[in-house]
Amino acid sequence: MRVGILTGGGDCPGLNAVIRAAVHKGILHYGDEFIGFMEGWRGVLDNNTMPLTLESTSGILHLGGTILRTSRTNVRKIEGGLDKCLETLKANKLDALITIGGDDTQGVANALIEKGANCVGVPKTIDNDLSGTDACFGFDTAVSIATEAVDRLHSTAEAHNRVIVCEVMGRDAGWIAITTGIAGGADVILVPEKPIDIEEVCKLVKHRHEHGKKFSIVVVAEGAKLPASDKQATHGDKLDSFGHARLSGIGQVVAEEIEKRTGYETRSVNLGHTQRGGTPTAFDRLLATRYGSAAIDLVHQKKFGRLVVLRGTEIQDIPLADAIAKTRTVSEDLLNVAKGLQPKV
Ligand code: F6P
Repeated sequence: MRVGILTGGGDCPGLNAVIRAAVHKGILHYGDEFIGFMEGWRGVLDNNTMPLTLESTSGILHLGGTILRTSRTNVRKIEGGLDKCLETLKANKLDALITIGGDDTQGVANALIEKGANCVGVPKTIDNDLSGTDACFGFDTAVSIATEAVDRLHSTAEAHNRVIVCEVMGRDAGWIAITTGIAGGADVILVPEKPIDIEEVCKLVKHRHEHGKKFSIVVVAEGAKLPASDKQATHGDKLDSFGHARLSGIGQVVAEEIEKRTGYETRSVNLGHTQRGGTPTAFDRLLATRYGSAAIDLVHQKKFGRLVVLRGTEIQDIPLADAIAKTRTVSEDLLNVAKGLQPKV
């Protein structure tokens, strides 16, 4: 078969591992031919491709980023965009397209499926909030990076008797914040799922400083909000083509409130894109490889319009449309674990 592959949306460590697995299994096991579209859907619109061979996908398993590059190109906002994509798939005589991306990328794939395209999806989001799958590759790497940062922040916070607020990624769901916060032993963890109760945050910090320790670590997801604000903290007003603002700054807002209300010297650190960069963990390489292998199997089973997912420890597949229907938010169970480790204030 002739198969296309693209990577869309924000990058994640593990994208190259998915590409490598699909291409290697496709060529070695099924005798497929592959082309890669450059920069997500933009490459399909412009018919900008690169050959994907055993050679071009060798030595990339451990590399962050994506050899296909990526972009947030919303084909549906471009007049005639979907039809142009269909023409490109036809011009390249493709039997199938593997779309590696989150809800925006898969939303476009779904629109093309409705027009007859043979797409198979691989779920990707650093925020780990796609419904239908228990995990997305890249998340484990992001949590490892953020947890190491929180470990490091402990010693500098302690040396200065400071509160340090660490802002991590998580637009609509606080998976990175809750997981990093628990793994890194943060004193307070704030997620988009619950409005920030700044009074409670200050009580927790004060309790800690009055009962032994003279420093505290707060982990906050970029998408968390104070109840008084109807909008998330952003850097500028620009929106991307899917209507997403550039989130940034809630860590500084929380830090200023803590310092004002408690009198403790407070700093904020925004980990930003460091969480998405560099080499994937072994867990993410394995998950990404399993996803890539399963995706090319689905292509050969002609199970188009499906998304490979992890359920428990098993790789399964679900209708692609189901995954983009809603955000998978942080479980009450994890929130309760975090709460259970805090004093009652
Ligand atoms: O959607 C994933 C994500 O990493 C969010 O956590 C973050 O808000 C956003 O992407 C950053 O996007 P960009 O790479 O466009 O700055």
